[in-house]
Amino acid sequence: MPGTCVVGLQWGDEAKGKIVDLLGDNFDIVVRYNGGANAGHTVVVNGRAFKLSLLPTGVIRPNVTSVIGNGVVVYPPRFLEEVDSLAKGGINLTGSLFLSDHAHVIFPYHMEEERLLESGTEGKIGTTGRGIGPCYQDKVGRRFAIRVGELCRPDHLRERLKFVVPFKNKLLGALGATKLFDASAIADEYLGYAERIRPFVRDTPRFLHESLAAGKRLIFEAAQGSLLDVDHGTFPFVTSSSSLPSGIWGGSGVPAKFVKRIIGVVKAYTSRVGQGPFPTELDNELGERIRQKGREFGTVTGRPRRVGWLDAVAVRYTAALAGADEITVMLLDVLSGVPELKLCTAYELDGERITHFPSDAYLLERCKPVYESVSGWSEDITAARKLSDLPPGARRYLDRVSELVGLKASVVSVGPDREQTIMV
Ligand code: IMP
Repeated sequence: MPGTCVVGLQWGDEAKGKIVDLLGDNFDIVVRYNGGANAGHTVVVNGRAFKLSLLPTGVIRPNVTSVIGNGVVVYPPRFLEEVDSLAKGGINLTGSLFLSDHAHVIFPYHMEEERLLESGTEGKIGTTGRGIGPCYQDKVGRRFAIRVGELCRPDHLRERLKFVVPFKNKLLGALGATKLFDASAIADEYLGYAERIRPFVRDTPRFLHESLAAGKRLIFEAAQGSLLDVDHGTFPFVTSSSSLPSGIWGGSGVPAKFVKRIIGVVKAYTSRVGQGPFPTELDNELGERIRQKGREFGTVTGRPRRVGWLDAVAVRYTAALAGADEITVMLLDVLSGVPELKLCTAYELDGERITHFPSDAYLLERCKPVYESVSGWSEDITAARKLSDLPPGARRYLDRVSELVGLKASVVSVGPDREQTIMV
């Protein structure tokens, strides 16, 4: 049975959750395959808002099973907090949420390492501070990593922490830490979490293979955006996982051949959180207006997001990498009232005009955007429900985005609510 992937084609926060929500009844299982509690989305159930960062957006749908794949890094207190908050809202996830035994565990020393590395002025990435990078470093480095399955074996976990924590203390000491960690205290704390996590733990690749064989429909929820992908994003200003659909195979165990539809989610403008090049950034009064109107403040950290014009060079690049079949254009309503809109169609790099995206951050830093202007529209479009309800300016803008990216828009979002959507 084919799978679908919903992936952001910019630097994250493209409103992927709304698309997963709209696809609603078209899937049985929702899978997260990358990242951790660095992602953020708010879901509203019966008028009550839940802030989720580790559980997939689809978790709230009745009759849907959620999977946190092996490619995710998990901070157990956060996992339990989200499970508990949904339980308080009447959503009990036991039996419908599975956590991979091969997912890697985030410990307090990961967060401390990140805090120390990010507190200097050199080499700062502007991370979310959730221990994501240091945990993935341990995964790839192999020696000091601990997986969810290991949490469920108490003697083994104590032994592992006895080995890992002294090394981490040496490392943290060298980085200037004043507070060091105690292996047995961490073991006590994490064994407490393990008791509660155990019912959710599964061999998720096997579960997914069996589900595919049984004809279940899968949707993969990519966390972060394609430009934050560790291989193809604006390295080193990226996250530490594969946020493109290429991460699905490794991060869930589901082979690529099962993923038949790739939906690329694009914000009508661009936003970015943290450091790194952003050629179309609007560091001015208009940028501030868009930030306020689009409520562009990080769900996880509350940081104001940097905002700018839509960069068609970047989206063409990520759409190709993702293998996107279509795009969805989100937050179009935020641009209402801007008299002249700009779309970046090329860059000037050291006096030369280029139309490809240099993913090397040091080259991108030197790129100056080449813009094309499109006249805007003044009307409020939040009540539009079909393309013909949109003013000509908005239609022209959408058409031009599609042309420049080379993909049709299948959905246009004109507001946060489910109904504020145009299905094309
Ligand atoms: P990390 O993932 O916390 O290591 O942060 C690395 C970079 O990715 C930083 O610039 C973060 O702001 C950015 N980032 C991580 N997760 C998200 C997200 O869900 N949305 C937008 N940016 C993110």
